[in-house]
Amino acid sequence: MTTASVLLETELPNRSHRGKVRDTYDLGDRLLIVATDRVSAFDMVLPNGIPGKGAVLTQLSAFWFQRTVSVVPNHYLRLADGSPDDDLPYDLPADLIGRSMIVRKAQRLPVECIVRGYMAGSAWAEYQEHGTVCGVRLPAGLRESEPFPSPLFTPTTKAEVGHDENMSTEQFVETLGMGVANAVRLRSLALYRYGAEYARERGIIIADTKFEFGLLDDEPILIDEMLTPDSSRFWDAAQHEPGRHQEALDKQFVRDWLLQSGWDREPPPPELPPDVVEETSRLYREVYQRLTGEEVRA
Ligand SMILES: Nc1ncnc2c1ncn2[C@@H]1O[C@H](COP(=O)(O)OP(=O)(O)OP(=O)(O)O)[C@@H](O)[C@H]1O
Ligand SMILES: [Mg+2]
Repeated sequence: MTTASVLLETELPNRSHRGKVRDTYDLGDRLLIVATDRVSAFDMVLPNGIPGKGAVLTQLSAFWFQRTVSVVPNHYLRLADGSPDDDLPYDLPADLIGRSMIVRKAQRLPVECIVRGYMAGSAWAEYQEHGTVCGVRLPAGLRESEPFPSPLFTPTTKAEVGHDENMSTEQFVETLGMGVANAVRLRSLALYRYGAEYARERGIIIADTKFEFGLLDDEPILIDEMLTPDSSRFWDAAQHEPGRHQEALDKQFVRDWLLQSGWDREPPPPELPPDVVEETSRLYREVYQRLTGEEVRA
């Protein structure tokens, strides 16, 4: 592909959801999930797309789903390739191949399953103020970006509108029931440990991540995306240094540039210059290449 080509919008029949980055289409008992090249920062979608980003998100999720399915069941069926095997009621436009996944539709559980291996983001803010992370007291003297003694499971609500809020263990169990609550907690921790260990051997730290689960025939299965730069904080292990903020591998250039651009953080966000777009695109592809050992197909 030419480095300049990006896809920002998709128009297929039966759209069920448009998120900041992904568009989802209903196929009856399946869904078609298309990752566009949209990029968000500070919770706003930027005017530019990042070439290759949608392909990286989709193919990286597929990579993890296939590797972990024997441990935790998930919604993955196939990467849509435009062939009859996709079994779609329409022709898949060629520019959606590589960025589209067909999955089993599940009944989404109303929680976000966050696992944190390292002290970062809102956890660090809370710890500095109260000595706790999501209400759980931790030893004194922990530093920013330091690994926790063991990974923490810190679920939140999945708000339809407004911000997701932390849930206590009691709230979590009350919302899901004991059996499902235990299953998704253990599954989330197992998936994080597996992914974090795998990534660490390839020089990438997965500081934290978010999983979503849905019920299919009463079984909680992993849905949505898996261990992507959009659902996780990825750090470069070579640059990791506890005691200071670590910039996410993929968003480094975008956020740095926005911060020094003079933008007041009110919408609309400014257009990124070509060199920032190109460097960000390169970083997404590099993350994919380092984790999977292959080039992203885009
Ligand atoms: N197998 C599945 N069954 C049912 N719903 C699913 C499945 N996989 C993903 N979803 C849902 O599809 C949507 C995917 O959209 P996306 O992640 O782009 O949007 P979002 O999370 O609502 O918004 P944003 O990511 O912009 O905050 C999510 O609401 C997710 O919970
Ligand atoms: Mg999402």
